[in-house]
Amino acid sequence: MASKLLRLDKAVSHSFEVSRKEAVFLIRDGAVSVAGEIVCDPAFKISADTPLELDGNEFTAQETMRKRVFMLNKPQGYVCADRDNRYLTVSSIFSGESHYLDLHCAGRLDVDTTGFVIVTDDGDLSHRITSPRANVEKVYIACVKNPIEERCIERFLSGLKHPEEDKPYKSAKLEIISEKVGKVTVTEGRYHEVKRLFECVGNEVLELKRVKIGALDLDESLQEGEYRELSEEEIALMFK
Ligand code: URA
Repeated sequence: MASKLLRLDKAVSHSFEVSRKEAVFLIRDGAVSVAGEIVCDPAFKISADTPLELDGNEFTAQETMRKRVFMLNKPQGYVCADRDNRYLTVSSIFSGESHYLDLHCAGRLDVDTTGFVIVTDDGDLSHRITSPRANVEKVYIACVKNPIEERCIERFLSGLKHPEEDKPYKSAKLEIISEKVGKVTVTEGRYHEVKRLFECVGNEVLELKRVKIGALDLDESLQEGEYRELSEEEIALMFK
């Protein structure tokens, strides 16, 4: 398989954590060598293993184009999108990371849902997190309007069918934390899934927070709107 080509300015921006604009400036200024030759064209295409040099630092895109994975504690009022006419976007929280061109949310939370969102430039990883086939558990704490009845545990497990959905949900786990607070574990991540599960049993979600993906808990030291990069070990925990 032919190796994927990428633009020189993208590789420099990623490798040195400078903006794309700064990378273009450095390249036009003749500061970057490609396989020993100065290249001043930011759009010049290189492959991942092409040797590059900037300010005496040698690197290849392969070594430096490490994919980034961030844990965000999403606040209310933000949509998991790049642009929106009505609401603030998760992208705006990450404006300081604009050198990562392909940052996106691995799965969406509703605008009024808070908590754990993975933001990454690794498309394969987001697919592994969101694909219903991967069965990655997502855990939510839901505050609801009416007392949660014991029999709902069995109903959630059985695979509920919402009138606005064509097919039933996969089995979901419900743990009653207190009279009006439930912990719900789902693996599908369908549209409004947790809210609709409660609707199916005649209840209504008033507040919803995602607290866990796989075996990785939301870092509660992150204030809403804060994020941090995850370690390899933490990333692996999502698939345990
Ligand atoms: N289920 C919902 O209903 N909303 C979310 O944001 C996530 C899961």
